[in-house]
Amino acid sequence: TPTPAYEIRLSLVGSEMCIRDRNILISNDHAGVELKNAVNRFLKKKGHVVVNLGDNSGESVDYPDIIHPLAKEISNNKDKIGIIMCGTGNGVSMVANKYKGVRAGLCWSKEIAELIRKHNDANILSLPARFLSIKQALEIVEVFLKTDFEGGRHERRVNKINK
Ligand code: RB5
Repeated sequence: TPTPAYEIRLSLVGSEMCIRDRNILISNDHAGVELKNAVNRFLKKKGHVVVNLGDNSGESVDYPDIIHPLAKEISNNKDKIGIIMCGTGNGVSMVANKYKGVRAGLCWSKEIAELIRKHNDANILSLPARFLSIKQALEIVEVFLKTDFEGGRHERRVNKINK
């Protein structure tokens, strides 16, 4: 007998859309302006739809203020993903991870970018702007966007996050 539609919906962890086809929200505090600009250019060049919600001025801002709107949007919309940046990547991910359905992964290497997608179905990539070169960060973004969630035992684990 076929699985009822509501059970299929309940078992869906992330979006059914492939990660690279989802709209991308980006945000940053003053420590991440330069990196954000580079990420924005990189994504647009690759044809992604990008919405920039971050600071552009470089003037000191409080990272929770610039992350709450982005995290709220991703929590309410499974077809969107985020890339967030602050000095260490920690403050912004702490804020984002308060939201139901948001899985922000702090990332400083391509290997971790791959694993937060494959194992954690991360829907936000968090970058430590003061500890990565632009080149390193863009390589991380590229891996994050091309890696799909593995599902299986990882789906069971991810489903337990909100319990
Ligand atoms: C700003 O100086 C810095 O505290 C912020 O960018 C971030 O690293 C916080 O977690």
